[in-house]
Amino acid sequence: MASLVAGALCILGLTPAAFARAPVAARATGSLDSFLATETPIALQGVLNNIGPNGADVAGASAGIVVASPSRSDPNYFYSWTRDAALTAKYLVDAFIAGNKDLEQTIQQYISAQAKVQTISNPSGDLSTGGLGEPKFNVNETAFTGPWGRPQRDGPALRATALIAYANYLIDNGEASTADEIIWPIVQNDLSYITQYWNSSTFDLWEEVEGSSFFTTAVQHRALVEGNALATRLNHTCSNCVSQAPQVLCFLQSYWTGSYVLANFGGSGRSGKDVNSILGSIHTFDPAGGCDDSTFQPCSARALANHKVVTDSFRSIYAINSGIAEGSAVAVGRYPEDVYQGGNPWYLATAAAAEQLYDAIYQWKKIGSISITDVSLPFFQDIYPSAAVGTYNSGSTTFNDIISAVQTYGDGYLSIVEKYTPSDGSLTEQFSRTDGTPLSASALTWSYASLLTASARRQSVVPASWGESSASSVPAVCSATSATGPYSTATNTVWPSSGSGSSTTTSSAPCTTPTSVAVTFDEIVSTSYGETIYLAGSIPELGNWSTASAIPLRADAYTNSNPLWYVTVNLPPGTSFEYKFFKNQTDGTIVWEDDPNRSYTVPAYCGQTTAILDDSWQ
Ligand SMILES: *[C@@H]1O[C@H](CO)[C@@H](O)[C@H](O)[C@H]1NC(C)=O
Ligand SMILES: *[C@@H]1O[C@H](CO)[C@@H](O)[C@H](O)[C@H]1NC(C)=O
Ligand SMILES: *[C@@H]1O[C@H](CO)[C@@H](O)[C@H](O)[C@H]1NC(C)=O
Ligand SMILES: *[C@@H]1O[C@H](CO)[C@@H](O)[C@H](O)[C@H]1NC(C)=O
Ligand SMILES: *[C@@H]1O[C@H](CO)[C@@H](O)[C@H](O)[C@H]1NC(C)=O
Ligand SMILES: *[C@@H]1O[C@H](CO)[C@@H](O)[C@H](O)[C@H]1NC(C)=O
Repeated sequence: MASLVAGALCILGLTPAAFARAPVAARATGSLDSFLATETPIALQGVLNNIGPNGADVAGASAGIVVASPSRSDPNYFYSWTRDAALTAKYLVDAFIAGNKDLEQTIQQYISAQAKVQTISNPSGDLSTGGLGEPKFNVNETAFTGPWGRPQRDGPALRATALIAYANYLIDNGEASTADEIIWPIVQNDLSYITQYWNSSTFDLWEEVEGSSFFTTAVQHRALVEGNALATRLNHTCSNCVSQAPQVLCFLQSYWTGSYVLANFGGSGRSGKDVNSILGSIHTFDPAGGCDDSTFQPCSARALANHKVVTDSFRSIYAINSGIAEGSAVAVGRYPEDVYQGGNPWYLATAAAAEQLYDAIYQWKKIGSISITDVSLPFFQDIYPSAAVGTYNSGSTTFNDIISAVQTYGDGYLSIVEKYTPSDGSLTEQFSRTDGTPLSASALTWSYASLLTASARRQSVVPASWGESSASSVPAVCSATSATGPYSTATNTVWPSSGSGSSTTTSSAPCTTPTSVAVTFDEIVSTSYGETIYLAGSIPELGNWSTASAIPLRADAYTNSNPLWYVTVNLPPGTSFEYKFFKNQTDGTIVWEDDPNRSYTVPAYCGQTTAILDDSWQ
């Protein structure tokens, strides 16, 4: 991961010809099943060993801080990257929901730590000035101030996704107020960061290319969609999520070349073939999302075509892949031009190639058919030579044969991981392109997490839907857009001592749509003494836009760190209207917010009697 300046690492670059054929340091292996049965507990323990405060390998790390690796030199990964930490936390949340209840305290500590980390002033900025894009922090929750490839704008999205998964669990288990009070403020900051900066340049997940990156755009889209859904569940809104998500999706389409995903805009001297794109597909996999091309779902024609192009790019460059035919699994690295720490295959990249295929199998079985198009045909022909364009329903011989071939192919990738895993089960970052010897950072948290997620998908254990099917329609025209704020410090990190699920909400009364919804308008706006904030809008309840009939907001919760004005207005369910806030200055001058007008529709759901709009001055 951490290659500060790609060029500086070229001294490590060796041409493929420099590698002699060497005997493979193969591990004596049983079946893949028995390897995974042994390895998955080792991998989970490996993850936990790298999380403070009790992680055996990371003494000194604060509670809930996920350290990338215990390695302190060559390379020094003794930091917490927002990306790695969030991907790891997402696995822990999914595993917790799937039944490992021991993980809850670690998850809660991670979330509390993120509330703190969000407030750390760092070289990318402060909470509300871009600081959420800072890629890594010291393990004692202080800023890393050295030069680095910053900002990296995937971190807030991945963190939001991890937190949203746990928030949804809490809501499902009668703990909505905990989700609302502790998790929502953190998520809201991350969503605000995404809506503000998704259309600004970023460093990619490998910290080398400055420009735009498929993985980053894909995970940003996902986070905005599920972030808005969480807002709705908690009676909040994220109107910026709603306005920006379609544009992020629109931009995502531009990475598609027609035959594979161009991983980055801005990576000069690169083919653009990069496991970045496979990681993008698996981390935006939605089990309810079909094989949708627009979001590059793992079983989409685009993602399958891309899987072939990316994995094929490593066949000829690594000696350990020598002689392995197309359609059989190989060791996979980050991108073929990579020279960082020797530019070897990575465990997490090879596991990701497997995971995409397991996701696809899950989806085809669920949908009940496999469709082969001109775009995906080359992928299928590799593993099933008689493949032809068409749709094959479950129960047919072709369907069964393809499922079996893809399963074998996916297992092949995990068998490569198995082959080059040392007997103690530890996973470094890389393994040698010449003989498979483990290399680079030791006990890499992300290597373990990727083995765990691939193994879960192999067993058809999939994460919750993020709402892909409601958010896959691509606007006809893409626009360069941005939407700002709100940001506010997440201050509540006290978890109910009884843990989640301790209270249950039961409703025995029949659920009816209320006659009135108490809508709270929150407006974050700094004011000076004597200034007041008003709400005006297009309906009689909001004074028909007349300033004389506008509604004054309250400032009794106003603080310098959270300059909140608010008012609650009872409105009829289903009412659609436009509104804006204005400032009444001390001399009586009226200053309206900038255009456009805000718009809102009062929820009309059975049982929903309250709603909260989170706005900030525009
Ligand atoms: C936190 O860690 C950094 C990096 O190791 C170190 O330089 C700094 O002194 C530590 N700060 C505190 C308050 O312990
Ligand atoms: C911003 O969005 C526009 C429209 O999708 C796109 O053409 C442009 O490349 C984007 N720029 C960045 C840096 O995201
Ligand atoms: C707003 O307009 C409605 C209908 O046009 C009218 O009945 C009502 O009195 C107006 N209210 C205010 C506060 O101006
Ligand atoms: C603005 O404030 C002044 C002074 O308090 C007051 O007289 C005036 O009515 C206010 N204007 C509006 C539109 O509320
Ligand atoms: C906002 O609403 C007002 C009142 O209807 C209207 O005059 C104004 O043009 C609207 N602004 C925009 C940008 O649509
Ligand atoms: C959202 O509103 C509904 C209906 O008013 C209420 O039952 C529920 O508790 C609210 N949820 C939160 C998190 O406030």
